[in-house]
Amino acid sequence: MHSNAIESSLFSLVFDQASFLAFVTDREGTILRASRYAEELIGRELSGLPFADILINFAQAFNLEQALAAAGTQLLSVTMQNGKPQTFCFHFDDCGERILALGDPTHHDNEALHSSLIALNGEVSNLNRELQKKTVELEKLNELKSRFIGTTAHDLRNPIGGIYGLSKLLMEEATASGDERYAEIFTEMRGSTGFMLGLIENLLSAVTIESGVMQLTLEATDLNELIASNVRRNRIVADARGIGLHVAHAEPLPAIQLDRLKMHQVLNNLISNAVKFSARGSVVTVSAARESTAVVVAVEDRGPGIPASEFQKLFTPFQQTTVRSPDGEAGSGLGLSIVKAIVEEHGGRIGVESEVGVGTTFRVWLPLPTARHPANKEFSNDQG
Ligand SMILES: Nc1ncnc2c1ncn2[C@@H]1O[C@H](COP(=O)(O)OP(=O)(O)O)[C@@H](O)[C@H]1O
Ligand SMILES: [Mg+2]
Repeated sequence: MHSNAIESSLFSLVFDQASFLAFVTDREGTILRASRYAEELIGRELSGLPFADILINFAQAFNLEQALAAAGTQLLSVTMQNGKPQTFCFHFDDCGERILALGDPTHHDNEALHSSLIALNGEVSNLNRELQKKTVELEKLNELKSRFIGTTAHDLRNPIGGIYGLSKLLMEEATASGDERYAEIFTEMRGSTGFMLGLIENLLSAVTIESGVMQLTLEATDLNELIASNVRRNRIVADARGIGLHVAHAEPLPAIQLDRLKMHQVLNNLISNAVKFSARGSVVTVSAARESTAVVVAVEDRGPGIPASEFQKLFTPFQQTTVRSPDGEAGSGLGLSIVKAIVEEHGGRIGVESEVGVGTTFRVWLPLPTARHPANKEFSNDQG
């Protein structure tokens, strides 16, 4: 009698008054009774609900049998009335047909969580510091690599340029003296050294662009003339490949402020690509026209075309598409990325239109001088 009275008073203490979560469930985990504190905290009637429903499972689904088998207490999070999770230290007691679950928001566990948070925080700071150190190291290495490529390319340019000039001379002499075999050999030699020179020029530009020190030497330029001279340069290769290279009817254009050498490189890369990827017998057309605020240069080919899904590769350094040159000529994948950088440095933009089996057109827009940015601003400032 006595012990029954004590039990029922303890029971009412735990379920009606104590500040911790208390549940009685059946063996399936259905809540039969929940303490008043639990229902207030969770904010709803809990009898009849599966115990697992009140938990937030970050790692894996809650399993009552496993919880019973595990020794000691376990940390479980419960969704509160305000939607936020709170962690409790749960103890499960197997009472045969019934199971008693007690969840205690003890000070001790909060403190453990707190200190593990502090430890994690410290670890994150350490990792962060290490990352910063590595970034600085990588930047240094990258700079070293750029300098290495830059010096090598620079040192190769002169001797190869020498061979290029010499092979041209020898080619002309062999042609003049009617020695066909040597004329052919020297033409071939001139072609490959020209290709190497182009590669070296691109490497040097890529290094300059990457280090962010590209500087333009602007001068008033007749774009039509620049195109004509570039087409002349590329005609030798085009002829050798049996490709027609034309300039479309040129309308007069206003002079624009350009870095001539760099714009040569832009035209050369676009025209040589069009020639390089087209099949024998094909035609490449270069044109320039005036639009309201820009001059647009177009290089159009009837080559293989580029799949639209590969457009994003075009202007990325060292990236090539699945389109290959019909005679297997290699490349570095640098050309178009350089073209884009130079065009943008001029305040312009580049676009591509292409259809597989039909051909490709690259267009470059170069802004015309406006009233706010007159082309000869530098001169008028000097004089004023
Ligand atoms: N006119 C073109 N027609 C078809 N594919 C082209 C054309 N121009 C460029 N491409 C594709 O874009 C890639 C990148 O061109 P580019 O940057 O000039 O590098 P590279 O000529 O050294 O390969 C080329 O490898 C080729 O796959
Ligand atoms: Mg190219």
